[in-house]
Amino acid sequence: MTETDPMADEFDTVAWWTATAVAELGAEYALPAACRGSGSPAALDWLAGAMGVRAGTRLLDSGAGVGGPAEYVARGLDAAPVLAEPMEGACRAARTLFGKPVVVADGAALPFPDATFDCAWSLGVLCTLEDKRSYLRELIRVVRPGGPVGMLVYTRAVDVLPDQPEGNHFPSRAELDADLGACGLTVLDETRLTDVAGTPDDWQDAAARVEEVIEQQHGHDERWKRAQAQQDTITALIGDGLVVGVLMACRAGSPRPR
Ligand SMILES: C[S@@+](CC[C@H](N)C(=O)[O-])C[C@H]1O[C@@H](n2cnc3c(N)ncnc32)[C@H](O)[C@@H]1O
Repeated sequence: MTETDPMADEFDTVAWWTATAVAELGAEYALPAACRGSGSPAALDWLAGAMGVRAGTRLLDSGAGVGGPAEYVARGLDAAPVLAEPMEGACRAARTLFGKPVVVADGAALPFPDATFDCAWSLGVLCTLEDKRSYLRELIRVVRPGGPVGMLVYTRAVDVLPDQPEGNHFPSRAELDADLGACGLTVLDETRLTDVAGTPDDWQDAAARVEEVIEQQHGHDERWKRAQAQQDTITALIGDGLVVGVLMACRAGSPRPR
């Protein structure tokens, strides 16, 4: 990771700034600000429901970011999440904001024995990875046999994007299906992100207030500018329908040979 890596700007540096902004504003800002890319509460409700997450479910959130989605199901369903995330700043932020178990780890090399979790989810992570299969195989390995694997994947709806955000590798739907198939994942249920309710106004307002504070404090910083440009590009691609969010509940079966 270099100092000018836009992924580190967004997922490490700005992630930590998010926790410090929340500390200034108040705990009620934490959850909306800490859902980075995971869509609306309704999207999380849909996915948790499709995966059968309930009280006591041991859920791994791989690529957990600042930990908002995991906290959302911990509060709402009394699930027992564990967070894995390669960016140290995001891990520190998640730990500071919510106090759930967090490990600094690459999703392709998780520090857990086989079948540790009842289920796992991956929200907005696949599109940041070039090698999606190593990450998916590792996700499957740590879930008990037959346990659900949930995903929010941002897919590319056109062959070539007009503006390619650095470090992102949006799969086409066909490429995604090929990756899932190669890893032995079967899709049990799916919906487009746009087919579930959007983020409510109070969440949007709270997240916007946190972003305002971050901008006031760090708007002059090149890392903030790069992260912001990256986010603006992705938001525009989604707004134009060129990148489409898909929620999927999957189950691992027999993987096809590599
Ligand atoms: C768009 S953010 C989503 C964060 C969080 N899942 C959410 O929805 O709020 C993508 C996350 O994937 C993480 N990530 C990048 N490479 C990863 C890898 N190899 N293994 C696991 N996570 C990774 C990033 O650090 C970042 O936190």
